[in-house]
Amino acid sequence: MTETVELAKRTLIQNRKSGYTLPTNNKLYPAQWNWDSAFIALGYSYFNLEYAITELETLLSGQWDDGMIPHILFHDNDESYFPNHKTWECGKNVPSSGITQPPIISTIIKKIVDQNNLNDDQKKRIKNIIIKLKKYIEWFFNFRDTNNTGLVSIIHPWESGLDNSPIWDSALDKIKIDVNLNYERRDLKVSKIDNRPLKKDYDCYITLLNQFKKYNYDPHKILNLSMFNVIDIGFNSILIRATKDLIQVSKKFNLDLSNLEKKIVLSEENLIKFYKEKDQYFYSYDFKNHSLIKVDAISNYFVLFANLDNKKINNNIINKLKKYNSGKDFFFTTVNPKDTSFEEKRYWRGPVWINSNWILYEGLKEKDKDFATLLKKRTIRVLEEKKFHEYYNYKNEECLGANNFSWSAALYLDLKLNI
Ligand code: DGY
Repeated sequence: MTETVELAKRTLIQNRKSGYTLPTNNKLYPAQWNWDSAFIALGYSYFNLEYAITELETLLSGQWDDGMIPHILFHDNDESYFPNHKTWECGKNVPSSGITQPPIISTIIKKIVDQNNLNDDQKKRIKNIIIKLKKYIEWFFNFRDTNNTGLVSIIHPWESGLDNSPIWDSALDKIKIDVNLNYERRDLKVSKIDNRPLKKDYDCYITLLNQFKKYNYDPHKILNLSMFNVIDIGFNSILIRATKDLIQVSKKFNLDLSNLEKKIVLSEENLIKFYKEKDQYFYSYDFKNHSLIKVDAISNYFVLFANLDNKKINNNIINKLKKYNSGKDFFFTTVNPKDTSFEEKRYWRGPVWINSNWILYEGLKEKDKDFATLLKKRTIRVLEEKKFHEYYNYKNEECLGANNFSWSAALYLDLKLNI
């Protein structure tokens, strides 16, 4: 067991470049990813607080003037990944993508502050991080909340972090693909084809990228014109939790976030409107095409992570979650195996991801201790047996995607050492 803890630390250190950490050690992801880095920082905080804080500072070095933190920073101008900084062409000092990712970083910073004795220098650095995160969270409400409901849209599946989840299928089907698309995928050179998204998905991803580039990533224009616009339950749940956590942690630093306190009341009120009593379930909303998205995917259960002040709804969602993968000793597939869109091996269409389990564990631990402990134990068990992979097949625990996967190692450290 201590052996796995040591391996987790080594995995992070071996994936570390100068000031940031790659998601894995092969050529699949040769850059800094937004939510990966946040999970990674949490892992470092158990054995090297300096690396944890630096990881986040490096991520924030790529924050845009308007407050957005991009989903990828290409610090080394590496071109082995597609689409790299040359394709995005955002024209920023730190070369980056032009879209964002779930703001899990705010929850992570709160955890790091709560769990560590910080010296004066660390406090100063963390205060700076919190000030920048305030701007990031405000960016969502300023630039992604079309109707002032406190709920935000994602305008590209990559923003969700759950790239090819079937939640996006119906919306992507309606996109008019660029006729002159000409690109070469690099992921298929280092990953198995049946693990990765399909060509039809990539055609949409690149069509959207081209559309945003055409408008020079102007946040108002791309929100209004994007061919993809979804109010996603998973994303908004993470944002609500991120906002609450940022408000809490900022109090320790005498920072005033009262504007966000008002916002969060509105967000919760409006999120609950997406709860459908008949199905006892939350559905994401395709804002572009005006329809509810009826796919049973794990991110719909991330509402538990939002810590909504509604015991009845929380309990109904927990009961539903208990039936989601019932009988399996290894939770949670990214899509319910009974859903027609489920695929055992393909990225976010079925495999088990450790960050999903972690988000649910965090959402459950104050609401249903026994269930949370069971989830934690099972997740730790599979990580100790199989070690740190990108994702896993729920039927036989086959390791899928990349090896030496940083967030699987980092979140193992949190699950194992945070007692
Ligand atoms: C990828 O390249 O698969 C990434 O998830 C995009 O962010």
